[in-house]
Amino acid sequence: MTFIQEPYVHRTIALNFEDGVTRFVVCLPGDTIADAAYRHGVNIPLDCRDGACGTCKSICESGTFEMTGYVEEALSTSEAAEGYILTCQTRPLSDCLIRIPSSSVACNAADNTVRKARISRLEMLSASTIGLELEGPEIETLHFLAGQYANLYVPGTNEVRAYSFSSRVSHGKVNFLIRNVPNGKMSAALSGIAKVGDEIRYRAPFGSFYLRKVEHPLLMIAGGTGLAPFLAMLEQMANASASVPIHLLYGVTREDDVVGLDWLDEFKKRLPTFDYTVTVVDTAVDGRHKGVVTDYLKQSHFHDGRADLYLCGPPPMVTAVEQYIRDQGMTPASMHFEKFLPST
Ligand SMILES: Cc1cc2nc3c(=O)[nH]c(=O)nc-3n(C[C@H](O)[C@H](O)[C@H](O)COP(=O)(O)OP(=O)(O)OC[C@H]3O[C@@H](n4cnc5c(N)ncnc54)[C@H](O)[C@@H]3O)c2cc1C
Ligand code: FES
Repeated sequence: MTFIQEPYVHRTIALNFEDGVTRFVVCLPGDTIADAAYRHGVNIPLDCRDGACGTCKSICESGTFEMTGYVEEALSTSEAAEGYILTCQTRPLSDCLIRIPSSSVACNAADNTVRKARISRLEMLSASTIGLELEGPEIETLHFLAGQYANLYVPGTNEVRAYSFSSRVSHGKVNFLIRNVPNGKMSAALSGIAKVGDEIRYRAPFGSFYLRKVEHPLLMIAGGTGLAPFLAMLEQMANASASVPIHLLYGVTREDDVVGLDWLDEFKKRLPTFDYTVTVVDTAVDGRHKGVVTDYLKQSHFHDGRADLYLCGPPPMVTAVEQYIRDQGMTPASMHFEKFLPST
């Protein structure tokens, strides 16, 4: 008799907590998500562990799983249809992203480890934008959700600044798109003192602004370096050959602020359903649209209310877009936003 050994498959589970912290845990064959969290020392809410009480109810935002052995009082059929799961009864069949309705502190999941990387590329992409690439062994093993951010330490200080990842990790390297803020501490350090080879300390990942399950048309609206998280999201969707319609509205103040069009054109080649529009407030050279992003926002971008809206950039721009779509009666299926608040 021949025994066919099942391949030893483990699944990576991203647990996203309500305070924006994400922990990645590994599910071994046969593990429930609760087992895997427990093995990693993460105390997600649990009581009966038997599918009877409903304490471990969470939301599966992406991935496939099997869930057996629970009662209707713990999880109703309609809740299950909406994506709710019981982590004590759920075994993943793929990598999964689970939203835990509790804070990382309450679950002992906060990871405040300060990690180190080296600058492998540092360049002015335009007068107002710095491109930063980091590398190192700790970057090679870094996990984050496309759209999340890192807290980078200003070199030589204990002050941190938040920057969204503008790429996925590839060949042990990861990128950022950084606005060169006049008189800014990090801006001055990166545009003047820092050089390739220097060490940068960081903590990551953070944030609730990340790409959810891609099943509807997507509308992305970026202001300035708010383009960064969208570059990481587009890379993830290109790697997965996403086929939903994706439109990016990318608005800047001055022509000088426009960066990343080569990358966007590359994504257009890899994602035939992707297109973008660039708007510039003060000038309108070839192919650009003069004005602000709301001047070019159309009902058709919302696909009759089926589009998921992602919005990222300076707080006034995010607020203006929210107000505009409310006033115009434009309704997305879901809306996710990140405001690039200054550290001060
Ligand atoms: C979750 C999150 C993600 C972010 N991701 C990015 C990113 O990917 N790329 C990016 O460029 N920025 C990003 N930001 C904004 C970034 O953290 C700040 O702009 C940064 O703190 C500026 O650092 P600095 O040391 O150069 O300036 P600071 O020394 O912090 O500030 C100097 C002066 O400039 C003002 N200032 C700071 N930032 C801005 C700004 N953006 N616009 C106008 N005035 C400002 C301050 O109020 C202060 O007066 C993000 C912010 C958050 C909260
Ligand atoms: S812990 Fe009671 S249902 Fe999961």
